[in-house]
Amino acid sequence: MRHFLSIADLSSDEVWAILDKARALKDERQKTGENEPLLRGKTLGMVFQKPSLRTRVSFDMAMIQLGGRALYLSPNEIQLGKRESVADVARVLSRYVDAIMARVFAHRDVEELAAYSRVPVINGLSDFNHPCQGMADLLTIYERYDKLTGLKLAYVGDGNNVAHSLLLGASKTGMHITVATPTGYEPHPAVVRLARTFATESGSEVVITNDPRQAVRDADVIYTDVWTSMGQEAEAEQRLKVFPPYQVNGELVAQARPEVIVMHCLPAHRGQEITDEVADGPHSVLFDQAENRMHAQKAILVSLLVK
Ligand code: CP
Ligand code: NVA
Repeated sequence: MRHFLSIADLSSDEVWAILDKARALKDERQKTGENEPLLRGKTLGMVFQKPSLRTRVSFDMAMIQLGGRALYLSPNEIQLGKRESVADVARVLSRYVDAIMARVFAHRDVEELAAYSRVPVINGLSDFNHPCQGMADLLTIYERYDKLTGLKLAYVGDGNNVAHSLLLGASKTGMHITVATPTGYEPHPAVVRLARTFATESGSEVVITNDPRQAVRDADVIYTDVWTSMGQEAEAEQRLKVFPPYQVNGELVAQARPEVIVMHCLPAHRGQEITDEVADGPHSVLFDQAENRMHAQKAILVSLLVK
């Protein structure tokens, strides 16, 4: 059985296959107003420990538009690991539904769901990574440039779950990636090591730095995310002191290539990691990215559920 917990678990051929399928499904829907019901009769159970707009709605709509159904289970309902063990939730829920999508605090919880589930488990964000976001981001860049290999992505901000998925996604597809964070907020060394292994195979380069200006030089893509992720609220005040030099503003964007695109997975804290001027400016592709969550996830669901 296949799960979708990290982009690291996919071969580079599988990453490209999902991206091409996503483009085809998006195209089909735009041209004909609908998709072939590839998931007719299939159901997705969606377990959330944290809030969500994009993940919840884009998975729900992806299932509906492919002829299936999704069931939203709120944090209070399941109380993963509190009312009932993670393993028992997996054992029970997987008797009812054809796939499970889970948004969790601790990454080991989504791994445990996968270990005990009879059906595929999709990681809808953990403290470690956000692979559905990563695939939607690759799709957005791929559409814009009609390639990924050889482009340069500069991620500026916190070395968090989203940064991890971008490191893995870029290195699988031959895209150069530079991550610029404050000291002490670098991406996890194990993820950087893994990304460098993939980069050797794909011919890309992985650079970790503390210098945002160096990062964005010659960049085709600038990416940022919140300075304080869900679950880190107690650190928010300290982070606000450290991160301002890493703000993506007009001055930083001007250091990149003139045609650079600016990305953010959203929700944004406007005025902190990104200014209104940039988020609403000519380089921004923020809302294409948000839309592409749905198209990328359709392809992920089809790859897991259609034999
Ligand atoms: N980008 C993203 O995952 O958004 P939500 O938290 O709203 O799902
Ligand atoms: N890094 C953010 C992403 C939200 C989609 C968080 O984990 O809160």
